[in-house]
Amino acid sequence: MNTTPTQTPVAAVIVLAAGGGTRMKSKRSKLLHAVAGRPMLSYAVDAARALEPRRLVVVVGHLREQVEAHLAEYCPEALTVEQPVRNGTGGAVAVGMEKLADVQGEVVVTYGDVPMLNGETLKALVAAHRADQNSCTVLTAMIPDPTGYGRIVREAGQVARIVEHKDATEAERAINEINSGIYVFDAQLLRAGLPTLQPNNVQGELYVTDMIGYTRGQGRRVGAFVTDDLWQTEGVNDRVQLARMNAEVNRRLVEHWMREGVTVLDPQTTWIEADVDLASDVTILPNTQLLGASSIATGAVIGPDTTLRDVEVGENAHVVRCHGELAVIGPNAEVGPFARLRPGTVLGERGRIGTFVETKNAEIGAGSRIPHFGYVGDAYLGEGAYVGAGTTFANFDGQHRLPTHLGNHAFVGANSVLVAPIDIGDGAYVAAGSTITSDVPAGALAVARGHEHISDDWVQRKRPGSSAAAAADDAVGEVHPKVAEARARVRNQTIGQPEAINQQEAQQ
Ligand code: UD1
Ligand code: MG
Repeated sequence: MNTTPTQTPVAAVIVLAAGGGTRMKSKRSKLLHAVAGRPMLSYAVDAARALEPRRLVVVVGHLREQVEAHLAEYCPEALTVEQPVRNGTGGAVAVGMEKLADVQGEVVVTYGDVPMLNGETLKALVAAHRADQNSCTVLTAMIPDPTGYGRIVREAGQVARIVEHKDATEAERAINEINSGIYVFDAQLLRAGLPTLQPNNVQGELYVTDMIGYTRGQGRRVGAFVTDDLWQTEGVNDRVQLARMNAEVNRRLVEHWMREGVTVLDPQTTWIEADVDLASDVTILPNTQLLGASSIATGAVIGPDTTLRDVEVGENAHVVRCHGELAVIGPNAEVGPFARLRPGTVLGERGRIGTFVETKNAEIGAGSRIPHFGYVGDAYLGEGAYVGAGTTFANFDGQHRLPTHLGNHAFVGANSVLVAPIDIGDGAYVAAGSTITSDVPAGALAVARGHEHISDDWVQRKRPGSSAAAAADDAVGEVHPKVAEARARVRNQTIGQPEAINQQEAQQ
């Protein structure tokens, strides 16, 4: 989405990130709170990187260890410098300049807590700075309610100075053009001007905004670049603003994906995080959250009521009312409704994980099916295997997680327990209701359950006068025609032919 042609890199970017974030009331640095699934600071770093600065300096302070740990991973080339006393934005920029003592040229100043500011806007700001041959250019915006912001005071149309809300007169407070706090400065000008700043204002702080008046006083040019995307100047100070920011970023991401060919039935209830990747002709149904590094291939239908974090979904798969994490769902596979895919689940193509099924560390081969409720953990299933309703893979002996292997086209009858570690061979059958504790060879049938005992007329003897006894008395003594018919078919071996199995499978 990089539409602006590349331009000459700037000398440096200073990201101010020392502020307390006290209004977040959090043990976590404000800068690490997430917007669309990524720490807020990562957006500031990305925007800065778009300028290809020769140096990137982040001024840290409050909870600096957390901020530095994030930067070490996300942006190792960033230099961090501590602002020991939070004496204002002017003090913060001066601390940043300590790392840039020898730097000549343009220094861009941004904030760590303005996540929607992007590289395109910074590039446009720098381009305007160059075109007008300014010594200082400030990013501004016209906003309906400018309360709290610094105001841009113009004289004869030219930026004369910036006055903070707290220091402003009534007339100045009526100005709608606000200071975003994002600037381009000439490095030498900063070095000369910062030491002259005085804390003679209501807050008793050093204001970097006073650099504007200083620059004018030096007879140098100051310019303003007005952005019409107000969100790009919007900071996050508390969790109410964080929620608003997340809603707006999400709205834009959802819109972006719709323009890329994704059908989103209900944008209001669809959440798509920044690192998610979607193909065209994906369909997302209401109440769906696609999180982390999830990716969805073309033709897949996700939702309703589905949360996927770091899940890869193959072409034309259907995922309905599912909670999935760190899992892979193969092409044409079917998941849900009401399925829980825990980390390490890999469902092969055309596979099926059905209703009320929980899986974990489960490699499930192509065409294998677990259509009804059950638990499949630490499992290796071949191709075309079938796991009947209510089957449990008993993978935990109280101390260890143990594996189960189910061979190609193996069949496990309903309500079985497979006690790991265990190997069930290719094409083997396990009878319904079995608890299996030893390996089943390929092609064998394992039956492990108590024998059925029929006690005739037990109900009439033990429950005389009950409605059950009355019903038993009235019984004609024949099996239900559907059962009789099926039994006859089994006897004649019409079940067991591949075609019949397929018909039966289609209904399961
Ligand atoms: C600042 C601007 C104001 C502008 C507004 C835009 C000044 C004096 N005012 O006001 O004109 O409209 O931003 O949001 O610059 N920080 C430090 N160290 C400090 C103080 C601040 O690193 O000692 C960082 C903060 O973490 C934050 C940024 O600088 O990221 C802005 O600080 P903040 O206190 O929010 O400034 P505002 O009063 O909002
Ligand atoms: Mg602020």
